Amino acid sequence: MSSVLTDGTLASTVNGLRFLNPFIIGSGPPSTNATVIGKAFAAGWGGVIAKTTSLTDTHVVNVQPRYGKLQTPGGETIGFQNIELISDRPFEDWEVDFRKVKDAWPDRILVGSIMERYDKARWQELAWRCIKAGCDSLELNFSCPHGHPESGMGAAMGQNPAMVKEVTSWVVEAVGGRPVWAKMTPNITDIRIPARAAKAGGAAGVAAINTILSTVGINLKTLRPTPTVEGHSTYGGYSYRAVKPIALRMVGELATDMPGFTISGIGGVCSSVDAIEFILMGSSTVQSCTGPMLQGFEMVDELGEGLAAFLAQHSFANVEAAIGKSLPYFATHHHLVELQGARKAAKAAELANRDTEWGKKDFVAEAGQLVSSKE
Ligand SMILES: Cc1cc2nc3c(=O)[nH]c(=O)nc-3n(C[C@H](O)[C@H](O)[C@H](O)COP(=O)(O)O)c2cc1C
Repeated sequence: MSSVLTDGTLASTVNGLRFLNPFIIGSGPPSTNATVIGKAFAAGWGGVIAKTTSLTDTHVVNVQPRYGKLQTPGGETIGFQNIELISDRPFEDWEVDFRKVKDAWPDRILVGSIMERYDKARWQELAWRCIKAGCDSLELNFSCPHGHPESGMGAAMGQNPAMVKEVTSWVVEAVGGRPVWAKMTPNITDIRIPARAAKAGGAAGVAAINTILSTVGINLKTLRPTPTVEGHSTYGGYSYRAVKPIALRMVGELATDMPGFTISGIGGVCSSVDAIEFILMGSSTVQSCTGPMLQGFEMVDELGEGLAAFLAQHSFANVEAAIGKSLPYFATHHHLVELQGARKAAKAAELANRDTEWGKKDFVAEAGQLVSSKE
């Protein structure tokens, strides 16, 4: 394991939580039980968002196959689709796992991810039981795009700002000051609206983005969409490399709209370059889910080495110093046109000043242009 992951080089404090490094496993298969979470921490990840869980009587039945890949003609995977649901494990098993993991890895940040139906008592019970079992903080899944939205959960809630605010406030009330992040769905026209609602409900930050609603392909022999289950499919969540540009844009929109509000960036992080881009766009921590699924937990070594080298190259004292540093370079398209016009005018003025240009127009007027206006 790379030493920069644990020696303090990349350490930061976010919402009062001390991260040894800003790299967090995003909620999903790489955080689906104590065994895999332990492997992530052993590899050096600073935090883990556990696979989303709900109270035991919530109906969760997964199908097989439930993943699909988008590949280039050369065979490289650039996009990944899943129709996986939240955890199908009893919540009581999660309580045992949370305790086991936190006892074994006290210096890492363990975040519980929760999702429930629109019921205050259920959200609050789930929240405090996670904290009691050892979670440092919580992420609220307002963003799962398939399966549960049919029953008003996940993205269905995340697309309703009033609900986001209310449910966030229920959880904040239940967890006694522990930070709560709301995970945003990208399947909405303006991601700033639910994020503002989460903040108004008392969230300490947001995680963005969850997967983008998609269908990864159609089998041209059978005419069936993939992944195909009993001859049928359903729209699922798109992730990995291909979604990064969309995620970066959304993180940038959030960071610009709510300066100083915590953002945990996620979507297509496969390398240190990707992770640094999320930090420059305003993320204080960076999550990856499909990355470790396809590349292994050890990918965090390259994330750490690359980020440490970047900070040194730009003389940033720490991760915090780099957060949002690319945001000032965004403007409206209208302003880009103005900037370009101003540059062209400056260049023309500079050219006109050269000796080779003398005599192309009226010589006396050219000389007159160089006379100080005060004389
Ligand atoms: C197979 C799979 C299962 C996922 N399950 C969850 C989940 O239970 N809860 C959640 O909040 N996000 C879930 N996600 C979404 C990821 O945490 C992440 O937001 C998304 O995949 C984009 O990041 P990535 O490109 O790094 O994977 C899942 C993603 C995948 C690929």
